[in-house]
Amino acid sequence: MNAEDQSITNVQTSASMKKMPFQKYKAFTPIPLKDRTWPDQVISHAPRWCSVDLRDGNQALVEPMTPNEKQRMYDLLLELGFKEIEVGFPAASQTDFDFVRRIIEEDMIPDDVTIQVLCQAREELITRTCEAVAGAKNVIFHLYNSTSTLQRKVVFKMSREEVIELAANATKIVKTNVAGLIAAGTRVTLEYSPESYTATEMDFAVEICAAVMKVWEPEVDNKIILNLPSTVEMATPNIYADQLEWFIRHLPERDKAVISLHTHNDRGTGVAASELGLMAGADRIEGTLFGNGERTGNCDVITMAMNLFSQGVDPELYLSDMPKIVEISEACTKIPVHVRQPYAGDLVFTAFSGSHQDAIRKGMAFVESGSEGAWEVPYLPIDPADVGGSYRETVRVNSQSGKGGVAFILENYFGVSLPRSVLLEFSPIVQQLSEVNGGELKPDVIWQAFVSEFIDVEGPYQLIDYAVKSIPDDRECCDANIKVAENQVEVHGEGSGPIDAFIEGLMQALNEPLTVVEYQEYALNEGSEAQAISILAITDDKQNKYYGVGISQNTTTAAFKSIIAAINRKWR
Ligand code: KIV
Ligand code: ZN
Repeated sequence: MNAEDQSITNVQTSASMKKMPFQKYKAFTPIPLKDRTWPDQVISHAPRWCSVDLRDGNQALVEPMTPNEKQRMYDLLLELGFKEIEVGFPAASQTDFDFVRRIIEEDMIPDDVTIQVLCQAREELITRTCEAVAGAKNVIFHLYNSTSTLQRKVVFKMSREEVIELAANATKIVKTNVAGLIAAGTRVTLEYSPESYTATEMDFAVEICAAVMKVWEPEVDNKIILNLPSTVEMATPNIYADQLEWFIRHLPERDKAVISLHTHNDRGTGVAASELGLMAGADRIEGTLFGNGERTGNCDVITMAMNLFSQGVDPELYLSDMPKIVEISEACTKIPVHVRQPYAGDLVFTAFSGSHQDAIRKGMAFVESGSEGAWEVPYLPIDPADVGGSYRETVRVNSQSGKGGVAFILENYFGVSLPRSVLLEFSPIVQQLSEVNGGELKPDVIWQAFVSEFIDVEGPYQLIDYAVKSIPDDRECCDANIKVAENQVEVHGEGSGPIDAFIEGLMQALNEPLTVVEYQEYALNEGSEAQAISILAITDDKQNKYYGVGISQNTTTAAFKSIIAAINRKWR
């Protein structure tokens, strides 16, 4: 058996990699909804956003946020434009209680912002929660109890009627307890969550929410929030959308309720579920920055808002300084934002592959010249500059890259645009370098490679000095000193311009045929320090072409240097 066969056999018989025991799991039963309408809907405006970073996000951290970190996160959420912020679970945590008191007593809640507090359906917790929010202007009292079929059976051992009774009773207690707050001037909204909604029979979810509404007595202009969590994501997002459409159709007095969604991400589709849920008729979204939260996290509000933005919809959040959002989020949660995190990760606007780089370059040129303000760049769903990124970082070079990437780096970092034939010569050199180095080549490394290949070319010739002057008949003469190996050679030539005169002198002194077949020169940067770059090609008697490049503040010097570089390349 050869080594390859042996390694295949090893994989097949590996002790840790076994056939998966899929029979252990049951498929989620979809709800029957044949006439669903949500697939035809388009999301045309932002939902009401509610950040649950300081509660659901915080309670899932290895190290929950310190009071200062909570404050930092809270300040960021205000800056991002959240108008509803779940600030904690004050009856369950003294830190949360103290934080809620602090932002109320120190007047840190803007008038147009509503704080939300979570509370379980238990009397002593309800009383304590009311103490926590006393003095706030706007409060969402978020009451929850689990309604899931499984939890009723194995955890609470309660019938449907008993669970409805529990929720209705708790609502009554909240109503009695908040009366004092309302009298003192606090505007109180009730949010009710049938926790584990997606694992609850839909008719029961409607029944319990209707029972809570009956006790609370919401009005069309003073609505209750019904928050329908996918506490554990259990099925494809279309099933969540079906559940929501079913619920909304069957809920009595729908016009007195705000339908809110609270998705988790166990199957990796928390954002998709919230999006389809909006299509199914929901009004409000709870979620966290970058999806921090229990287990696989919550709905990522940044991704969801940016998805809207990328469709030309105002996300109604201010996300233009993504690096700052990442920095504060990482500092408060101590969880790094992944390099592939949509819209925010270090690599999400970066192309390494040659064909992508080429398309981005062309797309950018199109946007600059002809797209009339619309963003139409292949491989870049949005303009990185809109989230504080830099267009330059969209292209990075490794062994997968091609001439488009090399051209992009030289143009955007060094102001050098190369003729296609120079690029064709240079990009294999870059590719080889990257293969040898085994990774990414930073712009400076690419520039150094360019300099040694085309500018400071090793070879026998070196320009020492020169003088050019006008002579009769509109001609120029050039006297130059050239170092050839260890010797100094004087060059004298005449021609229609300095380049002509220099070439003429070189041909005589060096006794070699030289013809300039391509020449371009342009300014590299503006201002008094402006440098000129000369890119030039010569041919020998066999019509082989040699490019050379020269850079100098003086245009003639740049041209002469490029000639010497081209001759050295010929002799190399
Ligand atoms: O995921 C969940 O169900 C929750 C509730 C408390 C709303 O966080
Ligand atoms: Zn949750």
